[in-house]
Amino acid sequence: MLNLPTPVLVMAPMVDLSHVAYRELIRSFGGCDLFYSEMLNSRIVPVENPETSVYLRWAHTNDLIFQILGSDPEKMEQAASRLDTFDPFGIDVNMGCWLKKVTVHGWGAALMKDMDRAGQVISAVRRATGRPVSVKMRIGYAPDRQYMLEFAGMLQEAGADFLVLHARTVPDGLSRKARWEYIASLKEHVSIPVVGNGDVMCAQDACDMVRQTGCDGVMIGRQALIHPWIFRDVRALMAGQPQGEAPGLQEVLHALLALLETHFPADVALKRFKTALFWLAQNLTFGHYLTKLAGRAQSMDEVKKSIKACFESGIS
Ligand SMILES: Cc1cc2nc3c(=O)[nH]c(=O)nc-3n(C[C@H](O)[C@H](O)[C@H](O)COP(=O)(O)O)c2cc1C
Repeated sequence: MLNLPTPVLVMAPMVDLSHVAYRELIRSFGGCDLFYSEMLNSRIVPVENPETSVYLRWAHTNDLIFQILGSDPEKMEQAASRLDTFDPFGIDVNMGCWLKKVTVHGWGAALMKDMDRAGQVISAVRRATGRPVSVKMRIGYAPDRQYMLEFAGMLQEAGADFLVLHARTVPDGLSRKARWEYIASLKEHVSIPVVGNGDVMCAQDACDMVRQTGCDGVMIGRQALIHPWIFRDVRALMAGQPQGEAPGLQEVLHALLALLETHFPADVALKRFKTALFWLAQNLTFGHYLTKLAGRAQSMDEVKKSIKACFESGIS
C-alpha cells in the first residue's frame, strides 16, 4: 500500500495524545508504519508559528500524517498547503469526529451528511498537496451501508488516496462494538486501500481484523496508548514469531516523562503526562491511586516523586 508494508500498522489520531513524545515512545518499541497527528484546526494551521506551537512538533515527519479539521474548502486547502511544506508522509481530512463541539461547525463527521461539501474539501486538499491524502471517516449517521459506499466512492473520485474507517456510526460515539463487517464492505467497494479501525484490543485482534475484512491496514488508538509496544506484538504475531515481554511500567513512565521534557515546555509536559497517565496506568493494579496522586502534582518533579512513592510502597 503506497510503498508501505501490507498490512500497514497505523497509530490513530488522538487529541492531546498523538504528539511527538508519544510517537517517540512508540518508536522506542519498534514503532509502527504511520503515525497520525491529533486533529489540527484548519483555521489555525495557516497562522500557527512552528517555533512556539505545541502542535507542530516532531522528531520525524516522513512517517507522519497531519490530520486537519474543517469544512471550508479554501481554509482546508491553505492548511494542507502549509502542512505540506513540513514534508509529511501525507495529509488526512477528519470526517469522523462525532463530538458536538466539532460537528456543530459542520466539521468532522458532520461532513458525512453533506456529500457535496465533503467532495469540495477533498478536491481542495488534493490541489494543495502531491502527497497521499487520506480520509478518516465513520460509517455515517446511520448504519446505512449503501450510503457509506456511495460516500466513499465520491471521496475516491474527488482524489482521496486511501480511507480509514472507524467502524462505528456517529451516534455510536465510542460505545458499542465496532462493526468490522462495514470495513469488509468498504474494502470490496473501493479500489483505493482501506485501513480498518475500532476495538483492536490486542495483537490477535489486529490479525483477525485483516483476516475478516481484507483491509490493507490496521489503525490502533486506545490500546496503543495503554500498550505503546502493541505494534511490536502485532508484527511478531503476523510473522509467526513469539511475543516479546511487556516492558516494566516504571521505565515506560520515565521514558515518556523524559520525552515530554525534551519536546515541550514544562507546563505542557506536565499536562500531557497527566493525560497519558490515565491510559498507561491501566497496566497497574494501583493505577487509579497513581493517577490520583500524580494528578495533584504541580511540577514534573512532583510527578516523579508520586511514581517513586507508588512503586516503592508496592501497593497492589
Ligand atoms: C482521547 C481520544 C482522542 C481522539 N482524538 C481524535 C482525533 O483527534 N481525530 C480523530 O480522527 N479521531 C480521534 N479519536 C478517535 C480515534 O482515532 C479512534 O478512531 C478511536 O479511538 C477508535 O479506535 P480504537 O478502538 O483503536 O481506540 C480520538 C479518540 C480518543 C479516545
